[in-house]
Amino acid sequence: MEIINRRQRIFSISRKFRREDKKVGFVPTMGALHAGHLKLVEECRQRSDVTIVSIFVNPAQFNDKADLEKYPRDLTQDAAMLAELGVDYIYAPDVEEIYPPGFSTYVDVEGLTDVMEGASRPGHFRGVATVVTILFNTIRPDIAFFGQKDAQQVAVIERLTRDLGFEMEISVMPTVREASGLAMSSRNERLSEDGRQKAVVLINALREAKKAFKNGERNAADLAQIVKAAVQEEPSAELDYVAIVDRETLQPIEKIGDSEALIAAAIKIDDIRLIDNVILNRKQ
Ligand code: PAF
Repeated sequence: MEIINRRQRIFSISRKFRREDKKVGFVPTMGALHAGHLKLVEECRQRSDVTIVSIFVNPAQFNDKADLEKYPRDLTQDAAMLAELGVDYIYAPDVEEIYPPGFSTYVDVEGLTDVMEGASRPGHFRGVATVVTILFNTIRPDIAFFGQKDAQQVAVIERLTRDLGFEMEISVMPTVREASGLAMSSRNERLSEDGRQKAVVLINALREAKKAFKNGERNAADLAQIVKAAVQEEPSAELDYVAIVDRETLQPIEKIGDSEALIAAAIKIDDIRLIDNVILNRKQ
């Protein structure tokens, strides 16, 4: 496994493999790897000839400077995990390599980014869309892997891939969960033991709504109410939002029809923001 810092070098390596007709798989990360990331990497290994993982804590997607500073960074530990999984290359650029002096081009995916997570984190998805575009354009993978936990990020990346004409597949892997059901996230490390147990209220509330859907409930307001009531039962959890939206367009839905829909929610516990979602009418 080789760790590469330079954009030009990872670009050349990837181009060489593509010319040899090798399938280049890519997993973008910000490091602090957990079982959710490792699942993406394993899938990438199985479905590609060459696996590239990027580790870059992207300042453009943090609207809170303190959050950026607090973000855990341990390249040595991350690299050891990735080596064990047989990753071929880690791309770990410095900030100036991605955003050189004078950088002034950003990618805005209109209509998908100011709702849900975007409402609480202004500019977040602009930062995500910009860095992902830079990474896609540098690596030009055949396939890139993302986790369903970040459902809005998935919708944004699927749209930008289509709109900007990247010739590649976006593969979305199911959310990896702790035994309790809590979705894997680097933020879980910041929860107290007690908070970690209480955080399970989020997925339980979403699952309750999904069960009601399976039992015939189609009214989005009623499904949202089920989530709200279930979260309220945990006094230390504060609900930020619950949204019932089309999975691709993120447009709110009043009555669930036949297309794929998301019930997505965010809560705060121990002052840590946690998100999760369930999909209704899953097609595959
Ligand atoms: O999901 C993440 O870790 C980040 O948002 C991503 C996709 C690596 C972009 O910085």
